[in-house]
Amino acid sequence: MNADEDKRAAANAAVGEIADGMLVGLGTGSTAAFAIARLGERVRAGLRVRAVATSLRSLEQARAAGIDTLDFADVAATDLAIDGADEIDARLHAIKGAGGAMLREKIVAESAARMIVIADGSKRVAAIGAAKLPVEVLPFARSFVTRRVADLGAAVTVRGGAAAPFRTDQGNLVLDCRFAALGDPFALAEALAAIPGVLGHGLFLREIDSAIICEQGQVTRIDRPV
Ligand code: A5P
Repeated sequence: MNADEDKRAAANAAVGEIADGMLVGLGTGSTAAFAIARLGERVRAGLRVRAVATSLRSLEQARAAGIDTLDFADVAATDLAIDGADEIDARLHAIKGAGGAMLREKIVAESAARMIVIADGSKRVAAIGAAKLPVEVLPFARSFVTRRVADLGAAVTVRGGAAAPFRTDQGNLVLDCRFAALGDPFALAEALAAIPGVLGHGLFLREIDSAIICEQGQVTRIDRPV
């Protein structure tokens, strides 16, 4: 099985947990795209759900697939969020944001009664930290935040480069931060959130309830103990 087939299998397993009447948070990225496609099939087969999307591209895909979408600005809580990850470990700590949607992804994840991460086996790690950690920054604060995050021990680059930087759906910048050692991820998450100008970051430490990971066709599941 190739990675795409594994992504699809993980996505299909998660979408199998969506029940009639749910309000669903749709993630962003190539794995989440398989989930949106599968949900579209279920909707066309008669499932009645509404959804919010974590990015403009997921919104477009969902609408094209015939899924009834809501503006998240009008939504206070969702039932289930399904999203990918760049790294996930057995403690259900994850790094997200290679697609640049981590701010909306975290808001939707927090709004959800339950969040499932879906991934192929390449995303499973013993401990998160090797992937670059994306940090969303108000453009006004770019240099200031870069210096503060470098002080925390990261090599920092502006995604896309200074001349033509990547912009998030909100028009902000992303700093890709490579830490030699992540240390205590909770302490790092707090330190990042405390920097004025930081709008969000890709450390997901408390939001994820379950991970469905497919490796070489074998689907495994990790659940947070209740
Ligand atoms: C989007 O901003 C990300 O958080 C994605 O969920 C993450 O990068 C995983 O993407 P893929 O499923 O494409 O690997």
